[in-house]
Amino acid sequence: MDVIEAMETCSAARYLKPDPVPQDLIERVIYAATRASSPGNSQEWDFIVVRNPETKRKIRDLLAPRFKAMAVGLPTTGRAPSKMIAGAMHLAETINEAPAIIFVCGPVAYPPNQPLEQFVWSALYPAAQNLIVAARSLGLGTTFTTFHMFMESEIRDLLGIPQEIKLGVMIPIGWPQNDFVKVKRKPISSVIHWDKWSD
Ligand SMILES: Cc1cc2nc3c(=O)[nH]c(=O)nc-3n(C[C@H](O)[C@H](O)[C@H](O)COP(=O)(O)O)c2cc1C
Repeated sequence: MDVIEAMETCSAARYLKPDPVPQDLIERVIYAATRASSPGNSQEWDFIVVRNPETKRKIRDLLAPRFKAMAVGLPTTGRAPSKMIAGAMHLAETINEAPAIIFVCGPVAYPPNQPLEQFVWSALYPAAQNLIVAARSLGLGTTFTTFHMFMESEIRDLLGIPQEIKLGVMIPIGWPQNDFVKVKRKPISSVIHWDKWSD
């Protein structure tokens, strides 16, 4: 698949089938993630792939009520939650049914002489974006999430993640229930500034 076509149809897949994803495909998307750029080619990233049903259930039990409590204050369409919030709620409530949940994480380690936290995120986000685009090219659905922020200390305990490792992105992955759709984004004419900010 053409890479731009994969990017423009890499819509968040919040409704996933429970059907298993072969390990070699998980390794393929992590391979793609680790082809990303990172500061000084430091490659300070790690990927925790959670497939254990009991662990996924514990994650769901932590996440779903907290997400629900937060979602009460979010925008609605009329009286119903927006499609995005409804989808995120569904994902939170069923995340244990996703064949795998990938945590993209890494240490504060760059630059080596004086590590700065901002460089962790600048490594983890491009890797996560590569991962979701690669998954899309293979027909796998993902959602780029920060769901871990609702339960970070519990996730650390559950997965044995040391304090010095920062959690960047939590990505459920599986075969999508729905077709991928073209993402809706601003037209480039509204974001490009040729030569200077304004003319
Ligand atoms: C940093 C970041 C955090 C996100 N966190 C969540 C999240 O916690 N839950 C979720 O369902 N989607 C999350 N998303 C996905 C966005 O909501 C989604 O990409 C956006 O609504 C556009 O939808 P589309 O990609 O399907 O076009 C996140 C995306 C980014 C980049």
